[in-house]
Amino acid sequence: MRIVDLILKKKRGEVLSREEIKFFIDGYVSGDIPDYQVSALLMAVYFRGMDKQETTDLTLAMVDSGDKVDLSSIKGIKVDKHSTGGVADTATLIVGPLVAASGGLVAKMSGRGLGHTGGTLDKLESIPGMNISQTMKRFAEIVNTCGVSVIGQTGNLVPADKKLYALRDVTGTVDNVSLIAGSVMSKKLASGSDKIVLDVKTGSGAFMKDVESASELAKMMVDIGTLAGKETIALVTDMNQPLGNAVGNALEVKEAIEILAGDHDGDLKSVSIALASKMLVLGDIFINERDAEARINEVINNGEALKRFGQMIEMQGGNPEVVNDTSLLPSSDSILEIRSDREGYIQAMNTENMGMVALLLGAGRTKKRDVVDSAVGYWMKKRIGDFVNKGDVLADFYVNDRKNLDESVELFKKSIEIGNNSEKKIKLIYNTVK
Ligand code: URA
Ligand code: CA
Repeated sequence: MRIVDLILKKKRGEVLSREEIKFFIDGYVSGDIPDYQVSALLMAVYFRGMDKQETTDLTLAMVDSGDKVDLSSIKGIKVDKHSTGGVADTATLIVGPLVAASGGLVAKMSGRGLGHTGGTLDKLESIPGMNISQTMKRFAEIVNTCGVSVIGQTGNLVPADKKLYALRDVTGTVDNVSLIAGSVMSKKLASGSDKIVLDVKTGSGAFMKDVESASELAKMMVDIGTLAGKETIALVTDMNQPLGNAVGNALEVKEAIEILAGDHDGDLKSVSIALASKMLVLGDIFINERDAEARINEVINNGEALKRFGQMIEMQGGNPEVVNDTSLLPSSDSILEIRSDREGYIQAMNTENMGMVALLLGAGRTKKRDVVDSAVGYWMKKRIGDFVNKGDVLADFYVNDRKNLDESVELFKKSIEIGNNSEKKIKLIYNTVK
């Protein structure tokens, strides 16, 4: 087999066989096939697509490229959660403690930021002392003790995804249904949980911009999970504006803590509760979502959810006091108010650009080796549909390095469309796929 023939075949829009897909994945991971040929193949896949069988074969070849995690030492049904990525999507930090405090088990391996989206590991690392690298033995111990642990992927979990993810990021081939499905589901299938709840984002800040393609992605992933013997369901949820108010690592942890404490409401909390209640039903803790939701509200109100988050932080080496005192999180040198230049209703946001704003402030990586500044980012004061007067504060910017400040303020303002239409027509949860 020659990789160039597979490139030509896919360029013509033909279907790749299981053997051909395995050849490509194995060859890429071993280093026999170079980046430039894989880049060409990815671009051909991007334009020609892969059918369901090819996507399934891709996913399974990716799973087989590395080790599988054995979580059998954790007794009970482990339910995993995965978002396809967005801006101010801190749901994992909220969902984990909510599920654990309600009686479920969450043993989750998370990732870092990709493109304009934030990464759970970067957020967790803003907590002083927090260690996201744990041995499998310790990981199981933490979940067995407090019901939840969130760590980084272990060394050899889906090495094919590590290489492909980085290459797609720099070759304009992230936003393809089959490539995202392969990336997400290979990690879910390899990481040892029993059941999976997916949060598939759609909108201006998601990789899938329209509801149709997001639903197609959701269906593809649910089918692959089910075929592999893990019950999987997906919610298609809105990413036409940052999900929470906070964008930036320590700020997002602060918002998660406020939600767990019952001190803060909004779309991030609503989506987190929707995901957590699905996880509790899949995990056989409750027979319906209404009961699960009632329990979730109880563990928010009685402090149990926040306590679980503190416990997890402590068991992973972090300072658990942050849950009672968020001023212990890193803080920036200055806070700048960004004000509206005109009056009107907020019509829309370019959420992808708003993710880039946070990167420009230093909250993420624009190059692989960039160091993330935990303290920086911004806190939104307005949402789509809100009326703003000229001079009203749109957001507080948390700033350290001012190198890209002008550019980020300009991009931020340009990303928020203000007009005369007072109608608010955004949904939060579009559909459930199972
Ligand atoms: N999240 C992933 O894990 N992989 C993708 O390709 C996109 C989002
Ligand atoms: Ca409270």
